[in-house]
Amino acid sequence: MLTRRTLLKGLAAAPLGMTVACSSEPPAASPRVTRSRPLPIPPLAASTVGSDGVRRFTLRARVGTTEMLAGKHASTWGFNGAILGPTLRARRGERVAVSLTNDLPEATSVHWHGMSIPARFDGGPHQMIAPGASTEPQWTVEQQAATLWYHPHPHGSTQRHVLRGLAGLFILDDADSAALDLPNSYGVDDIPLIIQDRRFTPTGAVDETDNSDVGCLGDTIITNGITGARLMVTTSAVRLRLLNGSSGRIFNLGFSDNRPFDVIASDGGLLPVPVRMRRIQLSPGERAEIVVRNVAGETVTLTSYPIAENGGVKVSDAARFGLTDRFDVLTLEAQHALTHHAGTPASLVGADQLATAGAVERSFDLQWFMINHRRMDMSRIDFEARVGATEVWTVTNKDNWPHNFHVHDAQFHIIEIDGRRPPAHLAGRKDTVYVPPGTRVRLVLRWSGHADPTFPYMFHCHMLMHEDRGMMGQFLVLAPRQRAKPMPSMPSMPSMPPRPGAHAQ
Ligand code: C2O
Ligand code: CU
Ligand code: CU
Repeated sequence: MLTRRTLLKGLAAAPLGMTVACSSEPPAASPRVTRSRPLPIPPLAASTVGSDGVRRFTLRARVGTTEMLAGKHASTWGFNGAILGPTLRARRGERVAVSLTNDLPEATSVHWHGMSIPARFDGGPHQMIAPGASTEPQWTVEQQAATLWYHPHPHGSTQRHVLRGLAGLFILDDADSAALDLPNSYGVDDIPLIIQDRRFTPTGAVDETDNSDVGCLGDTIITNGITGARLMVTTSAVRLRLLNGSSGRIFNLGFSDNRPFDVIASDGGLLPVPVRMRRIQLSPGERAEIVVRNVAGETVTLTSYPIAENGGVKVSDAARFGLTDRFDVLTLEAQHALTHHAGTPASLVGADQLATAGAVERSFDLQWFMINHRRMDMSRIDFEARVGATEVWTVTNKDNWPHNFHVHDAQFHIIEIDGRRPPAHLAGRKDTVYVPPGTRVRLVLRWSGHADPTFPYMFHCHMLMHEDRGMMGQFLVLAPRQRAKPMPSMPSMPSMPPRPGAHAQ
């Protein structure tokens, strides 16, 4: 069997090897010069609560036009608008329903990233919505307050659908979060930030071609859909809900004057105590909530810095994965008089570590568009899990490429990274974790009560081109003694351009 390195050597010799040709030209690190504009705040989605107690939202995926670059109109896709989507918001314990309509010219899906949700409503590649069709997933929010998000998950096309603009936030609240004195006025001192990279063609259209081994790397940052975003700050402390909504770019976020901030939440909710940091790294799909203190009259820029230690990638490889780039993400301009807010309470929520004794063990090796040497097959179930079971997963990046790892339905806890306990800001609930080359991450999770003998959940690399090319697998969660029921006939993997030279597997 050929190793990837052998194949890469072969590729280097092939003049038409697209990946190789492009990766020798790292993207320009400087953001395009553009005038600053006020940060758009995705509106809170309207909802109604019927006599059945169900909170109902409506999302319509549609085509539109957006001025991502000032003065240039690009064709984009959005939910209820031209780009991105409204922020959905619900409380723990509430039953929610989202009426989804697809007004796009092709099929898509809406996945609820980070949500514990029955598999048939998960919005993965088995829940496609045809053009003109509607569907209404409905579930009960059973998890802690968190900043989750939603995005399409059509197998083979997720990167393209997200690049066109389909993504939004889903904020969950609970009694614990409500009781804490944290900045919580949406759009005022509690700011959603969907941070993404894009590349544009000379006419200002979104360039969707893969220019790197981590997919489509952009040379321009859009924050909540625009370049050059600026926020007028009116309070002495501001909470930023950060989402890396990029396809393959990793961010290392901090402030231009190096001021510290408090990390208060990871993917799946609040941390036990705030963690003071000056930089926080987010790989695609990851979220963090931070609280930053502001000084009246001062301007500071939220910036993405080169990735610490090149993200574990060889120095000579760092530039082609975009790891050495630096970008402005958001300018914060504090007014001359600020409303006082204390900022961050000393403790947030109780820790909830899972015991690992008796856990089911599984391991996942990440390498070259594959997990455990296999590419995604819509009609193959990679494993079956049992409701209520605790599992310990060992995820190893056997590659020299950066990858991350995401699991549906569950929030996990990182037990160790290369044998060491995770840093405090990664010790809370997570659903996506960065796995540097050569690194082994062990995590623990427990399946909720959602059993389904037919519809699987996904696990995958959240670098969207990797996922599209097959770096994904599926599992069923079954009730005790329940048997898997064959899936209704599944479309096989959409045709994917083979990687040049990738015939030997
Ligand atoms: Cu954010 Cu399976 O995805
Ligand atoms: Cu997900
Ligand atoms: Cu990957």
